[in-house]
Amino acid sequence: DKGGWPSFMAKEVAEQPEAVANTIRGRIKDGAVVIPELDGLDDLFRGIDRVIITACGTASFAGMVGKYALEQWARVPVDVELAHEFRYRDPVIGAHTLVVSISQSGETMDTLMAVKYARERGARTLSICNTQGATIPRESDAVVYTHAGPEVAVASTKAFVAQITALLLLGLHMGRVRGSHTDGSGAVAELEALPAKISRVLAEEEARVAQLAGWMADTRSVLFLGRHVGYPIALEGALKLKEISYIHAEGFAAGELKHGPIALIEPGQPVFVLVPSPRHSALLHAKVVSNIQEIRARGARVIVIAEEGDAAVLPFADEVIRIPLAEAMFEPILAVVPLQIFAMALATAKGLDVDQPRNLAKSVTVE
Ligand code: M6R
Repeated sequence: DKGGWPSFMAKEVAEQPEAVANTIRGRIKDGAVVIPELDGLDDLFRGIDRVIITACGTASFAGMVGKYALEQWARVPVDVELAHEFRYRDPVIGAHTLVVSISQSGETMDTLMAVKYARERGARTLSICNTQGATIPRESDAVVYTHAGPEVAVASTKAFVAQITALLLLGLHMGRVRGSHTDGSGAVAELEALPAKISRVLAEEEARVAQLAGWMADTRSVLFLGRHVGYPIALEGALKLKEISYIHAEGFAAGELKHGPIALIEPGQPVFVLVPSPRHSALLHAKVVSNIQEIRARGARVIVIAEEGDAAVLPFADEVIRIPLAEAMFEPILAVVPLQIFAMALATAKGLDVDQPRNLAKSVTVE
């Protein structure tokens, strides 16, 4: 039941504040993150020397954000690997490796096979999953469920923000257990503030982003740039657009521009740029602003996603989409929302069925 929404995707985008709130609920105790399902795993978390996050598609981009969070808070090296690549090489894993799989459906065959392979090689496995009792969590040593509710649209939205939320919780939980993070930084407050901030993005930017997409219905290619945790969001923005609007889209790490992709920039080329907050790193922010100048000088049509009050981007942007202030790790959950709306509105403007894109299945149960 679409509940009055034009599509399941529109409904699921609107449900994101709730998806995040439900994923956090019951996992904060006395001002710290405590995930009850992970009770009893403290020794495992203290003993591991490596984490490998494995997933496919959108879930793998959530994993890329998770890498930043786990490394920063739990001080453990993290690699992110596409599940279908992981199994076909000879990874260095063993009893001190934790393999974290991420899957909305819990039935993705590539991810399932990666989990089984990791277990056979002696690694410990933890799954982040949105479907109670699915195969992947059953095959894993532990599970942290996302509580996004059933996701029907093929293009993943609310499950993605819930996956990032679960990874942030995992990073904070592991950081506490490993003694590498105490909540002096206000991470718990940041988490709890997320649902209201997502609601603000939806309320304040939705109409304008949709209008922008309407103007761009004839666009043949869109590029997305980001750095740090903005990089996986650039990849996700491009995937959303490909999946439902069939427009060619690429996401790049902004720092790669001059190593190749800048050759793609010609007058009128639309480019979304995810601008990190200058409050986290003035240097990173300045680098992205200089990337914007580089592409603008070559005629790109620049659509910036930046935090409220960031005026440095104004002289070089054709459009500015604002997100509320948040600490770096929490920004992706806000920044992805306008990109989801953009993809959905553009597909709708082209007269496409956003819930059932051609050639795709919701859950990929074959390898
Ligand atoms: O169910 P899963 O999270 O394991 O699915 C993984 C990917 O197939 C999925 O995220 C896919 O990329 C979506 N269609 C993205 O919108």
